[in-house]
Amino acid sequence: MANEIKKIGILTSGGDAPGMNAAIRAVTRTALASGLEVIGINRGYAGLIEEDFIEMDAKSVSDIIQRGGTILYTARCKRFMTPEGQDQAAEVCRKHGIDGIVILGGDGSFRGASKLSERGINTIGVPCTIDLDISCTDYTIGFDTAVNTAMEAVDKVRDTSTSHERISIIEVMGRNAGYIALYCGIANGAEEILLPELNNYDERKMIDDILERKRVGKKHHIIINAEGIGNSYRMADRIEAATNIETRATIIGHIQRGGSPSARDRVMASAMGAYATDLLIEGKSNRVVCYRNGKFCDYDIEEALEMKKTLDPYMLSISGRFSR
Ligand code: ADP
Ligand code: F6P
Repeated sequence: MANEIKKIGILTSGGDAPGMNAAIRAVTRTALASGLEVIGINRGYAGLIEEDFIEMDAKSVSDIIQRGGTILYTARCKRFMTPEGQDQAAEVCRKHGIDGIVILGGDGSFRGASKLSERGINTIGVPCTIDLDISCTDYTIGFDTAVNTAMEAVDKVRDTSTSHERISIIEVMGRNAGYIALYCGIANGAEEILLPELNNYDERKMIDDILERKRVGKKHHIIINAEGIGNSYRMADRIEAATNIETRATIIGHIQRGGSPSARDRVMASAMGAYATDLLIEGKSNRVVCYRNGKFCDYDIEEALEMKKTLDPYMLSISGRFSR
């Protein structure tokens, strides 16, 4: 068996996501159970270059499955984007006898993983982002928690919005990806969902629709705006001026990235973390763990990065049906 692997590292990179800690726990405990040593690498690739390491034992990951954020901290590291930084990181791995690394992050982090793999360090990526915008997988760790956090916030805004018969623009995260907006739009029964992928923001039409809905007796107008579209505060000013209805903007912001992971995120993180570690133990490298069509699987990182993802057409088609 290709079990040359004796010591593995684990790092978290890019934007954090609820469930990363559950994945760290799964990787650590799976590896320990197979007799491997485990090194926690702090602050992503920056900590790898700087040898900012902690020894992980079973106790290091106790009491973290329910915690948001990442106990290993995360960072964006410019030096690692250069061949010199990548050479240095691979050299650090060799110096410490680290045979393989599980990398929790998004597409950028997987590009980095591929650079380490080219340099002889086995790498496995695990998709973690609240944005759900990693093409090779139907699920990314953190999405479910973020959507539930945003949904609860929108419900609260809706209460006061209805009481005052106002229009509310609620901005959710997702600069380039509208999944959180689309799911909240459906889950919160929003009148409008503004999505960066569609590029279909038509303020004149939205104002006409709002006036029409008011005419038929609607008491609130909830507009879910994905972060990538315009400035929600200025949009609110313009809509208020055009409709003569009080309009408020609320930006939910980073609370969507924190908080205790949902059951779905804990379970998916546990399964993906264990799967990633098993791949390393089998001697695999340059792979990313995915969940597709209800099954866990893995792809070559380059192949995974070439895949394209669009918003689910069925979800999009139903999302416009409920607003009258
Ligand atoms: P995410 O992993 O969430 O997509 P980023 O795109 O910010 O987040 O990437 C996280 C880190 O991964 C970067 O700060 C950098 O250290 C590393 N990285 C990103 N892209 C590359 C690349 N093309 N080559 C090498 N490393 C990269
Ligand atoms: O990728 C996750 C995400 O939260 C996006 O939705 C958002 O656009 C971005 O990260 C914000 O990143 P930060 O504030 O950490 O720079």
